Amino acid sequence: MSVDKPMMSFVVRAAEQTEFHELAALWHEAWHDAHAQIVPTELTRLRPVEHFRQRIEAALVNTRVIGPVGAPLGLCVIKGAELYQLFVAQAARGTGIAAALINEAEVRLARQGVETAWLACAIGNVRAARFYEKCGWCRMGTMVNAAETVSGKFLLEVWRYEKSLGVQRT
Ligand SMILES: CC(C)(COP(=O)(O)OP(=O)(O)OC[C@H]1O[C@@H](n2cnc3c(N)ncnc32)[C@H](O)[C@@H]1OP(=O)(O)O)[C@@H](O)C(=O)NCCC(=O)NCCS
Repeated sequence: MSVDKPMMSFVVRAAEQTEFHELAALWHEAWHDAHAQIVPTELTRLRPVEHFRQRIEAALVNTRVIGPVGAPLGLCVIKGAELYQLFVAQAARGTGIAAALINEAEVRLARQGVETAWLACAIGNVRAARFYEKCGWCRMGTMVNAAETVSGKFLLEVWRYEKSLGVQRT
């Protein structure tokens, strides 16, 4: 599917229980697409689509989506103070969908009292890095992240980004 490129406004909505297969497929495809060339082969081998299915089901309540129910174009998950996952389908990149998702996630984090949010980005994921920097996130250095896999945690050095969030009073 292709998406018009002019600036559009997007509706960010909750993820639905009925679409976790489609969300997992999006996450799986976008993760491998962005990471297969830059992380150890062992890690990519340990992340089949079933792995993403289990994780999205567990994270559904904290997941927000853009796109029709059953045909998501992007997803974003928060966890504690972490901007935990942000994945946009290849055809929907460069459209503003990622910016809409990250803006909404920052508001959610701030409403939950998070003053400084953080995220982990694979070293070498230059498109994502450029995007985060465009959105006001700062690279603080590297850290070792425990990436989830089908056989437990996989330790991986990553770039750590942080952003100070204004306190939201609603
Ligand atoms: C990361 C992601 C959410 C960003 O969304 P996006 O729609 O691609 O973001 P944008 O197009 O607004 O911004 C990307 C920027 O990187 C630039 N870019 C594209 N390819 C690049 C490359 N190879 N090197 C450096 N910059 C690159 C784009 O030109 C754009 O910058 P610009 O607006 O100054 O021109 C999306 O690319 C994605 O889902 N990628 C795959 C999954 C992923 O990596 N998720 C993040 C995990 S930490």
